[in-house]
Amino acid sequence: MTVRELLSLYQPGHSLPRALYLDPEIYQRELDAIWRRGWLFAGHSCEIPRPGDYFLYEVDTDSILVVRTESGVLAAHHNVCRHRGSLVVTAKAGRARRLVCPYHQWTYGLDGALLTCRGMPAGLDKSAYGLKPVHVREVAGLIFLSLADAPLDFAPAQQVLEPMARPQGLDRARIAHAADYAVQANWKIVWENNRECYHCNACHPQYVKANFDRYDADQLSAEVERQIAAATERSRARWEAQGLLAAPAHAGLYRFPDAAHNLWCSANRTALVEGYVTESLDGRPVAPLMGDYADADVGTLRMRTLPNFWCHASGDHAVTTRLTPAGPRLTSIRVTWLVNAEAREGRDYALDALLPFWQLTSEQDWEICERVQRGVDSRAYQPGPLSPGKEYNVDEFLRWTIHQLTHSAAPL
Ligand code: FES
Ligand SMILES: [Fe+2]
Repeated sequence: MTVRELLSLYQPGHSLPRALYLDPEIYQRELDAIWRRGWLFAGHSCEIPRPGDYFLYEVDTDSILVVRTESGVLAAHHNVCRHRGSLVVTAKAGRARRLVCPYHQWTYGLDGALLTCRGMPAGLDKSAYGLKPVHVREVAGLIFLSLADAPLDFAPAQQVLEPMARPQGLDRARIAHAADYAVQANWKIVWENNRECYHCNACHPQYVKANFDRYDADQLSAEVERQIAAATERSRARWEAQGLLAAPAHAGLYRFPDAAHNLWCSANRTALVEGYVTESLDGRPVAPLMGDYADADVGTLRMRTLPNFWCHASGDHAVTTRLTPAGPRLTSIRVTWLVNAEAREGRDYALDALLPFWQLTSEQDWEICERVQRGVDSRAYQPGPLSPGKEYNVDEFLRWTIHQLTHSAAPL
C-alpha cells in the first residue's frame, strides 16, 4: 500500500491502523513532516551556562551541536565538517574554545565560522565553509531547535510558555539528575499514553495521590467536586499574591492538543491534592524553592510542546521529558530533574527523595508503552475505540498527527 492508502485507513475516534505504528515509510514521512518541520525541545540553557559549553542532540541521521558562543548567546550547528563530512564533536557534552575536526583539524569558531584549514589553497573562501546553522530559540530556559529551512512561527511558544514558565526559573536552575531510556515503542504510543489518565488509577499509585486529573467528568462525586473547589479556593489567593497565572483546578486532563487550530504548545497551572505542596512521594518539599516563588504551594505547572516535550514542575523542582524517535519501534527518552541553581546535593536536597515520584511514574509509563507496542506488533491488533470522556486528548493528538502527515509539503 502507498503512504496515502495507509493514511486513509485512519478512523477518527480510534487508535491508529497497525501500519501507522510499524511501517518504515510512514515513519520516514513522520520524520519529514513532523520532526523536521516543528520545533524540537533539545535541552536546558542551564546545561551550557558559559561560553564554549555545548551538548549534542541527535535526531534521526542528524547530529546537532548546541553551543554558547563567546558573546554568550546560543547557537546551533550541524555537527558535520565542511571538508569531507566527519562529525566534528563526538562527546555528548563538554566545553571547547574552538571546534576542531578530529580528521584533518579544520577548525571552527563557536559561532560555526571556519577559522583555519591548514593544507588547503590560500585562496579558499573560508566564509563559504562554516558549519551549517540550525535554527535555535530559547524560551524561559528551554532550548528549541528547528531543522526546517523555513521554521514554523515560534511566537506561540513565546506567548504561551514564557509567562507561565518564567517564575519557575528554569534558566536559573541546575540539573540534579538526568535519566536516559530506550523505550521499545513507537513515539506516538508514548504520546497517546501521556495524553490520558484513564490508566492512572490502575498504573500510577504514586501519581494519583497527588493529582486530581485522574478524575474524569464521569467519575465526579460530590466529595471530589468539593475537594477540587477547596483546592482551587486555597490556591487562588496565594497564587495571585505571587502573580502566578492559573487555570482553575478541574476534573480530567487539561485539553491539548487542539488539532483544529494546529496548536503545538500549551501550559497550565493547577492545584495539587490537599496535603501535597509538591510532586514528591509524601507531598512535602524535597528541595529549596525555585525561581521567583515565595511560597512552596504553587500547585503543578504543566507544559507540553509537540512533537517531543513535556514538563511537570512544582515549587521546589521541575521534571522535563524529551522524546526522540529512534525507529518505528524505538523512542529515546530523557527525563531531567531540575532544582534551584544554588541548591547542593546532600545539603539542600537528596536524590532519593527528589527522584522517585517521576522516576516511578515515568518508568510505569514506559512499561505500559512497551506492552502496547508488543500488542500492536501482533497481526491480531486492530484499532480500538477511544473513550470520548477520557481519551479526548488522544483523539486530538492522533488527528493532529494525521493532519501533519497529510498536509506536509511533500506530495503523498
Ligand atoms: S573531514 Fe574534517 S577536516 Fe577533514
Ligand atoms: Fe501514565
